[in-house]
Amino acid sequence: MNAKSHDKGRPLAHRLEQMTSFKVVDFLEAAVAMEAQGRDIVRMEAGEPAFDTAPAIAEAAIKALKDEKTHYTPSFGISALREAIAAFYDTRYGLKLSPERVVVTTGSSAALGLICDLYINPGEGLLLTDPGYPCNANFVRRAGGEPQLVPVSADNAYQLTGELVQSSWRDNTIGVMVASPSNPTGEMVDRANQTAIHNTVSRHGGVLIMDELYHGLVYDEKETSVLEITDEAFVINSFSKYFGMTGWRLGWMVAPEDTLPAISVMTQNFYISPPSIAQYAALGAFQPATIGLMEERREILRQRRDFLVPALRELGFVIPHSPAGAFYIYANIEALADDSETFCWDMLERAGVSFTPGTDFGEHLARQHVRFSYTQPMERLELAVERLASALGR
Ligand SMILES: Cc1ncc(COP(=O)(O)O)c(C=O)c1O
Repeated sequence: MNAKSHDKGRPLAHRLEQMTSFKVVDFLEAAVAMEAQGRDIVRMEAGEPAFDTAPAIAEAAIKALKDEKTHYTPSFGISALREAIAAFYDTRYGLKLSPERVVVTTGSSAALGLICDLYINPGEGLLLTDPGYPCNANFVRRAGGEPQLVPVSADNAYQLTGELVQSSWRDNTIGVMVASPSNPTGEMVDRANQTAIHNTVSRHGGVLIMDELYHGLVYDEKETSVLEITDEAFVINSFSKYFGMTGWRLGWMVAPEDTLPAISVMTQNFYISPPSIAQYAALGAFQPATIGLMEERREILRQRRDFLVPALRELGFVIPHSPAGAFYIYANIEALADDSETFCWDMLERAGVSFTPGTDFGEHLARQHVRFSYTQPMERLELAVERLASALGR
């Protein structure tokens, strides 16, 4: 379904005609409705681990409330948080970053939208991977632009390369947005490829936007921030995934210095400031105890991945290589079914396991793929595998 359906009153703006719904939410709502009727559903559709808020984060939030930190803040966020984020780049990547370049946003979603609004004129295009995070295409459309989907496959870890960017670049292309690790595939762009992509984009005078939202949730190797390669790219990050703060709606971007005045025009107008309590709470995220807890959780997620990948392969799902990070498995279902949407609805109904069809993430081989989130505890994942095995007659 797209967002054009509206029967009464004044017709909606044309831009709504192209916007697509987020199917994961359709599955989420169906699963919730089935649960309300008493069905037990193993929930593997949403991109949100079921961990509790870290104690230091919750305490910082309570203190902020007691201290009446409930007012607007500067539109780029409180300085203590911008400094803490900049210091985190030093600890994590050995990068000295000016806090001035850190812009705290209302979730990274706000940052992704802001950057599209910053660069895209009507009729211009932004290269995105297909499959990729579905909201990005809609941010591009909102800016009047054209999402230019580049099919990526398991051959190149479902990621862009310098050559792919070069061969996909059109006259109206203004830049590239990449997520590493990616949603839905969990795959990364390695340092050599990031450098190649950056060089290609620079040659075209374009803009490179690197979504590093799943940094910290990488299991076998160390991730590279694009800021280790260049100061000209935009980095998007968030407290949602590694720090498990989805509902606090807090993200950030690191922007090239010369773009900051224009960004501040937008942040001031579009949302005035990021949420104050969430910002004070996020100061608790950088305490050693919280980082220790997040590292334990990363290990838990790694164990889940290491259980689920071979278990799904046994059932006939094809997963060419174990995903490098995030908490997603993007699996080919050609040996099991013809159409991922029908398959997902069928498995929800018959097996009581909820996961997402590839059609949520683009068009390229989307009916042959599904995405599993391993955000549930191990015993629930085991149950999911048992139920799928029995529904698939294995
Ligand atoms: C790749 C990617 N980018 C951005 C987001 C938006 O996250 P948030 O607005 O919670 O920071 C998500 C959410 O799932 C995502 O997967």
